[in-house]
Amino acid sequence: MDPRDIHTPVMLERCLELLAPALEREGATYVDGTLGMGGHAEAVLARFPGARLVGLDRDTDALRIAGERLASYGDRVRLVHTVYDGILEALGGTRADGILYDLGVSSLQLDEAERGFAYAQDAPLDMRMDQTSGITAADVVGTYGEGDLRRIFERYGEEKLAGRYARAIIDERSRGAITRSGHLVDVLQKATPAALRNAGHPAKRVFQALRIEVNGELTALERAIPAALESLSVGGRLVVLSYQSLEDRFIKRLFAEATRSTAPAGLPFELPEHQPKFRLLVKGTELASEEEAARNPRAKPVRLRAIERIRESA
Ligand SMILES: C[S@@+](CC[C@H](N)C(=O)[O-])C[C@H]1O[C@@H](n2cnc3c(N)ncnc32)[C@H](O)[C@@H]1O
Repeated sequence: MDPRDIHTPVMLERCLELLAPALEREGATYVDGTLGMGGHAEAVLARFPGARLVGLDRDTDALRIAGERLASYGDRVRLVHTVYDGILEALGGTRADGILYDLGVSSLQLDEAERGFAYAQDAPLDMRMDQTSGITAADVVGTYGEGDLRRIFERYGEEKLAGRYARAIIDERSRGAITRSGHLVDVLQKATPAALRNAGHPAKRVFQALRIEVNGELTALERAIPAALESLSVGGRLVVLSYQSLEDRFIKRLFAEATRSTAPAGLPFELPEHQPKFRLLVKGTELASEEEAARNPRAKPVRLRAIERIRESA
């Protein structure tokens, strides 16, 4: 299996263009916070011969596949098995010059039916990106109370029928454990009012919510972005690709905080120490071109944001 045939890196040229001023510097350090199958990472290593890669992923399969793919780059490559908020530890005191977070699940994870990410295929309800630790989706579905299930479906899935689906799961559980994705899809389908059955797949948002809960995705992201910003050298750049409005709103807020002046309200002038340490490289978000979205369906929902460090912290 060649990873190049499974996954086409999203907005690749734009990412390289945004990272170029930082990664063209000799000895630059590039952190790929979501290495996946190493598509973006390989392109960075090829385009910027003076750059070294620190590649992070919590999925050991991804690290193995990317490791084989990038083997010819020798000691320019260092891969670390970690949740991406471990970026500072992974860097061990080195500053990062370019960082990319390409959020969400990989094509590899979606395509491997047995991992339970896809509602279209019946499989054990697992959904852990790191299969070496943590609770599974079956644990969440089997042990969380009704209120907690409703809360995660509402918050992480923005699901309007959250209460109804939580109730249906509790009812079904009393008849026997829900351990497979097909069983859960069935429960959700039956709980969906007939009038709404054609309004998108009823399991889509619930599966998204379970995945976010199982992997603690938003908690990790909330810690990862400030850590990534802290690690950047002056002139260093961070690019984030998100695929859900929930994640994108998060990035928007964290970038807005980082680029804001810290001058107290009412001060008639801004002291140098109050000036922002970062500037936005992209106004709002950028989307993939129509041509890319048509060619690569994964690119359709993407939103890109990018930021640069313009001065040192005090
Ligand atoms: C969309 S894929 C990245 C694809 C990659 N850019 C490429 O071109 O091959 C996202 C990857 O991030 C990893 N990931 C997601 N959340 C993570 C987290 N909190 N910590 C570490 N890795 C994470 C997933 O395991 C997955 O391999």
